[in-house]
Amino acid sequence: MGNWHGRMTLLEAIQARRSVRKYIDKPIEENLISILQEKVDEVNRESGLHIQLVTNEPRAFKGKMAYGTFSGVSNYFAMVGKKNDTSTSAAHASVSERIGYYGEQLVLLAQTLGLNTCWVGVTYNNIKEAYEKGDDEKLYCMIALGYGNDSGRNIKRKSIKQVSNASDASTEVGMGATPKWFRDGVAAALLAPTAINQQKFYFEYLEPQGDNTHKVKAKRGFSLIGYTKMDLGIAKLHFEIGAGKENFAWW
Ligand SMILES: Cc1cc2nc3c(=O)[nH]c(=O)nc-3n(C[C@H](O)[C@H](O)[C@H](O)COP(=O)(O)O)c2cc1C
Repeated sequence: MGNWHGRMTLLEAIQARRSVRKYIDKPIEENLISILQEKVDEVNRESGLHIQLVTNEPRAFKGKMAYGTFSGVSNYFAMVGKKNDTSTSAAHASVSERIGYYGEQLVLLAQTLGLNTCWVGVTYNNIKEAYEKGDDEKLYCMIALGYGNDSGRNIKRKSIKQVSNASDASTEVGMGATPKWFRDGVAAALLAPTAINQQKFYFEYLEPQGDNTHKVKAKRGFSLIGYTKMDLGIAKLHFEIGAGKENFAWW
């Protein structure tokens, strides 16, 4: 694994990543913290979010809430954004979707640095003095971060057919075959973390109409437990990495 400078690629990070809930007691090296902090600053500038990296703060995952599930967590990303969770246009996805899309960039970067992560929607204590939050902002969720005690486990995924209109790999070009990059994108999206592994997303390939641009429509399904916008943002990032951004435009 790894490219010429020894770090794994984002696609390799997608394949290697699993949610990790138990961590060892080892502080993150300063040089890795600066790489992560730089990326946090970059995504905040680009997204308008207010994500913060919190280190050496063990209280959020101690006590009743986290009992039995998480252990040894003392670093996390506090995923803060504007309260008003509506999208202004197709290009400006809802705050929740952006939390997913940009948060997963941090998750995959952490993976390439040899760190482990877990998205956390509910099972944490909100330690208010550990991060900043404006009056018009809220904490959407957290991402636990650190050196895993294990590298996570494989859990059952849906199939390409269940979450997309991709043709079978054996279908011939001209006989309704969807492009290979589309299948690769869906395969990468299937490895995305989603709340309780619900995978309530769907990718639809749309043939070029006049302008030669292949389009992909990403939709979210219904879920009683929610988090489908965040999940969709995460899955869309994976799709872009798997498919290659240059091959298509979002519908
Ligand atoms: C938005 C979101 C919220 C999540 N919340 C929790 C949580 O509260 N507790 C937990 O243990 N895991 C949580 N997870 C992790 C999922 O359970 C996990 O991603 C899913 O089961 C797939 O497993 P994998 O990440 O190892 O591929 C969350 C994941 C996402 C994307």
